[in-house]
Amino acid sequence: MQPLLRIDNLDVQFHTQEGIHQAVRGLSLRLGEGETLGLVGESGSGKSVSALAVMRLIPNPPGKILGGSISFNGRDLLTLPIEEMRRIRGNEIAMIFQEPMTSLNPIHTCGDQIMEPLILHQGLSKKAAQERALELLTMVGIPRQGLREYPHQLSVGIRHRVMIAISLSCNPKMLLSD
Ligand SMILES: Nc1ncnc2c1ncn2[C@@H]1O[C@H](COP(=O)(O)OP(=O)(O)OP(=O)(O)O)[C@@H](O)[C@H]1O
Ligand SMILES: [Mg+2]
Repeated sequence: MQPLLRIDNLDVQFHTQEGIHQAVRGLSLRLGEGETLGLVGESGSGKSVSALAVMRLIPNPPGKILGGSISFNGRDLLTLPIEEMRRIRGNEIAMIFQEPMTSLNPIHTCGDQIMEPLILHQGLSKKAAQERALELLTMVGIPRQGLREYPHQLSVGIRHRVMIAISLSCNPKMLLSD
């Protein structure tokens, strides 16, 4: 059986003022459906960059995927048209980002941010999205009032939970937890 995720010889570089920095060198891994895989490494060893590469979210410039291949469910992610990649992101592959404050929008309530992908990607009505958002919040252990709160009103741990709720909202096939 083919693995759900297959990375072969991934190389990612960043152009910095000090010169070229090789952030990921020759990463290869396989992940099967229903499997959990942990990447362990010291700070700066390339864990976040590897996950961002799978999402095709490496900022370019300064970053660039120089070589290797990333195949998800039999599709080569690195050559997919960007529209197709957008559809996969959030829908089939979700990511819990390391920094919750940079990915949560400070001017929208948590409820609105959980509901947005449900309305946008899954075509739920506002009412159905509200119910699902409440269900997701309960799942990650946040009380009902959390729906009406803004990210800055929450502790870092709770913000992370909101991100987990958002990432699970569309039932992704694969979850990258940075
Ligand atoms: N936008 C960027 N511009 C320049 N260099 C970057 C950028 N993003 C990451 N890097 C570099 O890539 C390397 C890998 O970083 P990465 O964030 O993947 O490490 P990490 O293993 O996730 O670390 P941590 O455990 O601290 O989260 C680091 O040397 C980092 O400085
Ligand atoms: Mg990291």
